[in-house]
Amino acid sequence: MSLVPFDDRDGWIWLDGQFVPWREAKVHVLTHGLHYASSVFEGERMYGGEIFELTAHTERFFKSAEILDFKIPYTVAEIDEACKATCAKNGLTDCYLRPIAWRGSEMIGVSAQQTKIHVAIAVWDWPSYFDPEAKKKGIRLTWAKYNRPSPETAPVAAKAAGLYMICTISKHAAEKDGYSDAMMLDYRGYVAEATGANVFFVKDGAIHTPTPDCFLNGITRQTVIRLAKDRGLQVIERHIKPEELSDFTECFIVGTAAEVTPVAEVGQYRFTPGEISLSLMDEYARLVRRELVPA
Ligand SMILES: Cc1ncc(COP(=O)(O)O)c(C=O)c1O
Repeated sequence: MSLVPFDDRDGWIWLDGQFVPWREAKVHVLTHGLHYASSVFEGERMYGGEIFELTAHTERFFKSAEILDFKIPYTVAEIDEACKATCAKNGLTDCYLRPIAWRGSEMIGVSAQQTKIHVAIAVWDWPSYFDPEAKKKGIRLTWAKYNRPSPETAPVAAKAAGLYMICTISKHAAEKDGYSDAMMLDYRGYVAEATGANVFFVKDGAIHTPTPDCFLNGITRQTVIRLAKDRGLQVIERHIKPEELSDFTECFIVGTAAEVTPVAEVGQYRFTPGEISLSLMDEYARLVRRELVPA
C-alpha cells in the first residue's frame, strides 16, 4: 500500500474545467459535500490508453447526481473528454480514475439549493485493489456489521459518498480481524455485496448472483454476466440467503477496483477458486485490454 498521502503528490487534477497542480486541488472546510455527503463519484480504470466503459461510468455519474437532486454542470461528452485529458495530462495509460461532484460552500444548512456544483477528476496508478498473492488463492471475507439499506431508506442506485459510511466501518472491522473485506447482507437478510464490489457464486456449473435491487448494479457485474452468458453459462439473478453459501463451490467478487477477485472464505463458508472464477478473471483481464473481442 502506498504511504504517499493523496494530497501530496505530483501531477494535475481537473477541477471545475481547469487543470490545477495536484497539491492545490483543495476545498474549504465549510463545504456542503463534506458536512452532509452531498457528493457522488465514479471509479474507472484506463487500460493501455483506453478507459473501460467510459461513457457508462459517466452516465452513472450524472444519474447519481440527479438522484441526489443536483445537476453536473457539464455534458456527458465533456466529462468523457475531461477524463481522457486528465490521464493524458498526467502521462498515464494504465490508471484508476476518480471523477467526483459535490455541493460547495455557498450554504451550509441541510437545505443547499443555491450551492455551486463542483466537479473534479483525479487519476493515479492503482494496480491491484487486493494483495496479488492473496488474490490468486482467494481472499478471505467476514460478515459485515451493517446491512445495505432499503431503497425506501437511502438512494441505493446512486454511487453516493454517504452510502460508503457503512462500507468503511465494515471494512475496517474486517481488516482488524485479518480479513481482506466484509460481505454485507441487505435489509431483508439476503446476501448483498462486498464493501466495494458485487458478488457471484457457482453451483453445479451455474452462476448465481444477488438481484441488485438495493445496491449498485456494477458495470463490472454487467460485463461479467455478459462474458458468462457468451460462454453458454447459466446466470441466475435471485435473492440468496446466507445459509445457502454452504451449497456453492466457488465465489468471486467483481468491481472496477477489484476487477474479478476469487474468494476463499465468507465467514464460516469455504470456497475453492475454480475453473469458472479463474477463467472469468482471465477473460475480464483480456476484455478490458481489448485482447478479447466480445461475442
Ligand atoms: C459498493 C459497490 N458495489 C459495487 C461496485 C462495483 O461497481 P463497478 O463494477 O461499476 O465498479 C462498487 C464499485 O464501484 C462499489 O463501490
